[in-house]
Amino acid sequence: MRPTGEDDMSQSEEAWSGRLGFILAAIGSAIGLGNIWRFAYVAGENGGAVFLLVYAVCVLLIGLPVLISEFVLGHRARGDLLQAFRASGASRAWSGIGVLAILVAFLILSYYSVIAGWACRYFWVYLTGHLPSLPRETLPAAFEAFIADPIAPVAWHALFMGLSAIVVTAGVARGIERASRVLMPLLAVMVILLAGYALSLPGAEKGLAFLFTPDWSALRTPRLYIVALGQTFFSLGVAMGVMIVYAGYMRSRARFGSAALTIAASDTLFAIIVGMAIFPIVFAFGMDPAYGAALAFVTLPQVFSIMPGGAWIGTAFFFLLSAAALTSAVSLLEVPVAAARRAGVPRVPATLGLALLAFLAGVPSALGSGTWSAVRIAGKGILEAVDYAASSILLPVVGLAVVLYTGWVLPRAEALRECGLPPRWADVWLAMVRYVAPLAMVVFLLTSALG
Ligand code: PHE
Repeated sequence: MRPTGEDDMSQSEEAWSGRLGFILAAIGSAIGLGNIWRFAYVAGENGGAVFLLVYAVCVLLIGLPVLISEFVLGHRARGDLLQAFRASGASRAWSGIGVLAILVAFLILSYYSVIAGWACRYFWVYLTGHLPSLPRETLPAAFEAFIADPIAPVAWHALFMGLSAIVVTAGVARGIERASRVLMPLLAVMVILLAGYALSLPGAEKGLAFLFTPDWSALRTPRLYIVALGQTFFSLGVAMGVMIVYAGYMRSRARFGSAALTIAASDTLFAIIVGMAIFPIVFAFGMDPAYGAALAFVTLPQVFSIMPGGAWIGTAFFFLLSAAALTSAVSLLEVPVAAARRAGVPRVPATLGLALLAFLAGVPSALGSGTWSAVRIAGKGILEAVDYAASSILLPVVGLAVVLYTGWVLPRAEALRECGLPPRWADVWLAMVRYVAPLAMVVFLLTSALG
């Protein structure tokens, strides 16, 4: 236990150990289920290479400017989400965006932890050798039975939320930063080894072609654009306050431009290398890449069960998935915790209380595939409906508000000074924030809505 005196430490005293700690924690937040589970399935369903291309354009034109904007807002307001949207002369309605961001982070955490719980459970069954002993044909049914169980998914969800709470109670530098310092390099090594192995399989070229040779006709699918936009926000971890809060723990003004570039590049590269691990394996064993959300939990285990050394690869893969999810969930939990601390609640009770609430909020998602499968919201199951509302509706709204506020409400001189970019690049960034990013977002949203 930590001495209780430190719980009362004021928010401004909590800080990263330095610039590297900040960048690693931000990368830890960015790299998560989104890069492995979500990227693989949305890329699989939306044409592979063409999706990757549109996604890369989204990261450059929208993701990066938004990321730098959040750093600017966060650093200026010392991580206070309500202050972040209060410039002199700005309408008070803007602070509603801060409240919305806290809500979105909480909402995403509630079901993120459910899926992370599935990943932990798969790690456990691989580690203990239960899954590899099942015949391949029974794996889809085994997954369905697990997620439909009235107790198991809730229990794993509780376990994962508990782990996240433990890291967050330990504090910014000693909990969050330390977890990222240990786990991020480990993940990088593991995913490179996994990709190296996948590429050595006979038939791997087909997987590479799927990921890197575009079929241009897929560009005509309107859905592609909104999915790529949603994936950009989700994967970079922007538009829900995390990066605003994290930048607030930076004592001095960091070169936010290069920090954002490092974070966006690591996040994208990680997703691509994971793709280079997953798709060659999927194609080498003749599976369908467009299997949807169950790709990581059904298709891959089927492949692991027939490939040599599959039990080990499976264990490694699900460790990767669980650990990456942990550093992301921690960042989501830190958003409401930071807000509660500002209201005077010490870190430990704030973390435990909010983790408990997020756990409860996630229970319907955990039960949505079984006990409560009769509940449909707009034709979707509970988990899918919450994911859709959060990532496809609320994230673009908050993201748009962030750039409009930074570009048009925050005094220009302040934005240019805070971003820490060399003058010429600072102008380019501000032009992107003012015109390119909002326009691109609106065009993408309309293309998908009207298509
Ligand atoms: N970026 C994380 C991922 O790719 C998810 C996340 C979203 C984390 C929002 C923090 C904030 O899985």
